[in-house]
Amino acid sequence: MDFKYCLKKIKMACKLCFLFTILVNVEAVPETACNRLKIGDNWYDKELLWSNLGKPCNLNVHKASNILFFSYSLPESYSDIDFQLGHYNLDTKEFQTIAGIRGGCSVAIDQINDDIFLGGSDGIYKYNMMTRLADLYREKGKNIWSLFFRKNLFYISYPDQKLHIEYDGKFAKVKEFENIEIDHFHVTGSNIIYYANKTGLFKYDNDRMESETVSELLVVRQITEDNEGDTYICTNVGVFADGKYEGFKKILDMKNIYGITFDRDNNMIYSDERNIVKLIYSLIGCDKKLPQW
Ligand SMILES: *[C@@H]1O[C@H](CO)[C@@H](O)[C@H](O)[C@H]1NC(C)=O
Repeated sequence: MDFKYCLKKIKMACKLCFLFTILVNVEAVPETACNRLKIGDNWYDKELLWSNLGKPCNLNVHKASNILFFSYSLPESYSDIDFQLGHYNLDTKEFQTIAGIRGGCSVAIDQINDDIFLGGSDGIYKYNMMTRLADLYREKGKNIWSLFFRKNLFYISYPDQKLHIEYDGKFAKVKEFENIEIDHFHVTGSNIIYYANKTGLFKYDNDRMESETVSELLVVRQITEDNEGDTYICTNVGVFADGKYEGFKKILDMKNIYGITFDRDNNMIYSDERNIVKLIYSLIGCDKKLPQW
């Protein structure tokens, strides 16, 4: 074997080896580097806001301050009922737990009057942004399962799951739903009532005073809306939306989403078992195809 031939062989082996390395690397790129989600026709980058929380849920953003309120349980806690409330400032990235609310698990925000209502196992509280303290508001002794605000403050009592409305400084059961249980309640900007219970998800027609079944298969985790007034329903099989997506439609096929809200700039924020993630619109998607050589 002459020297030249040998060198040629080594060069070729090296070239092959180099090419192989490139191919292997390229093949691995889309899996590891693509940290995006597709919703509708758009792609979003995932930005991890907070992690290591136990099932963060009931996400709600106070839009004027861009502060996200939510409930969570400590991951090491034995009971699932041991909830507490916290908030995360989306601008300053500062996290804080809210003291003084036993079993704190629900949030409702009156965005117009900047009133932040929080619920626990001993009544409804109002959060004071200046003192960072929660002061008892109403319904001392009542176990608050859920809160909702649209013109009036609503709450769902636990364990009977009855919907109450605040009127003239007092709470009363909502007559239309007196005889059924309600686990989640939402009124859209165009006055459509969505509610969910152990039987399923329903829509209530205020004019005909009738309930219409949307689905008896979904387990609802949160009903919310974005800054444009579209409704989002977070369930055990993914996220559904009603609005610009042309009717009630599944927009995200992800089973481990527990809560959804939108920040001041209408970016979606969701939670899974442990994390809170913000989605930021991206011009680039996750292309599964290898680049052309
Ligand atoms: C849930 O709501 C539906 C529709 O109003 C009702 O028929 C059903 O009885 C309710 N389920 C419970 C457990 O109350």
